[in-house]
Amino acid sequence: ERHYRIAVIPGDGIGREVVPEGVRLLEAAAERFGFTLDLRHHDFASCDYYLQHGRMLPEDWRDILKPMDAIFFGAVGWPDKVPDHISLWGSLLQFRREFDQYVNLRPVRLMPGVPSPLAGRRPGDIDFLVVRENTEGEYSAVGGTMFPGTEREIVIQETVMSRHGTDRILRFAFDLARSRPKKHLTSATKSNGIAITMPWWDSRVEAVGADYPDVRRDKYHIDILTAHFVLNPDRFDVVVGSNLFGDILSDLGPACTGTIGIAPSANINPEGRFPSLFEPVHGSAPDIAGQGIANPIGQIWTAAMMLEHLGETDAAAAILAAIEAALQTEEGRTRDLKGQATTRQAGEAVLARFLG
Ligand code: NAD
Ligand code: IPM
Ligand code: MN
Repeated sequence: ERHYRIAVIPGDGIGREVVPEGVRLLEAAAERFGFTLDLRHHDFASCDYYLQHGRMLPEDWRDILKPMDAIFFGAVGWPDKVPDHISLWGSLLQFRREFDQYVNLRPVRLMPGVPSPLAGRRPGDIDFLVVRENTEGEYSAVGGTMFPGTEREIVIQETVMSRHGTDRILRFAFDLARSRPKKHLTSATKSNGIAITMPWWDSRVEAVGADYPDVRRDKYHIDILTAHFVLNPDRFDVVVGSNLFGDILSDLGPACTGTIGIAPSANINPEGRFPSLFEPVHGSAPDIAGQGIANPIGQIWTAAMMLEHLGETDAAAAILAAIEAALQTEEGRTRDLKGQATTRQAGEAVLARFLG
């Protein structure tokens, strides 16, 4: 039966402003497409929760979240209240690891009505997917400090890449590339400078790629890859990268499509042993939080990705069509898109098109 249990976690800052707009679309989609939602709202995974409880999550967070069909997430972090590495390792990064959400899928698309900061680019010119490894790599807890507080202080943080963890993200990326018309995979590397892990990453791309002779593959060092994102964004189809490279590329890509405020992401456990988590690419934006001017479209597109993951493909497509239509109107564009709309007005603009 088409009944979904969803944990709703707004987190901090503009997460609290954009999540309600996403929820409005989810509820409208349920109504229109005939499925039901059981939304469970939570105030944990926020810095205010931390200040009250001394931790980011309740002790039984696994029992609360594991039975869910998905997690609909806003953003975490308020560095003036809690250091970022405490709030993030205590919440989002823990979800990704413990729920084995090893795929972070982040679409990059230039939408009709949204001008690209790259001169002359039109919708269709920029349309690719960043596939980011999401549980290991440069985001490791292996390392430490020696001689702290002295002149001899040394800090070490290891990059950890496993064959299991690398091959499975590459396989996901190759499968995705195979399913698309261009069948093209680009790998982000840095095997000239990072002389142990990155040549090894390249060798795994070769090894896994041998099973995908129909997928054209190439690789770029991360430095020139960022340049190509700006100069030749039409060159890309599926771009796979390690945890840190994928993180960087997934802010740069959306910036090339006008704003990071519209970019969605899916933190997926493809085997379905754990719930997947859906969140916009952007963070809590303390600089604009509380003003009601954040762009809600990243969160709303995220809602569409979540519905797609749950099998509600028609609903997902309808939301995306409503986003495209709204972005072509004045009332659908917030300040990051040189418009005047408030968060609520932009959400309303999408909702109105969704309802027809
Ligand atoms: P950010 O994404 O929060 O903001 C970067 C810039 O983009 C800011 O100028 C902000 O105003 C703007 N922006 C972001 N989202 C927007 C939106 N929807 N509409 C309009 N403008 C938008 O990144 P940051 O400033 O590096 O980080 C702020 C906090 O968020 C930190 O605590 C950081 O750790 C955290 N963070 C969390 C996540 C997450 O939860 N997934 C992601 C990134 C950053
Ligand atoms: C993201 C964010 C996080 C990351 C931060 C907040 C830890 O930037 O989801 O892209 O680096 O993964
Ligand atoms: Mn990021």
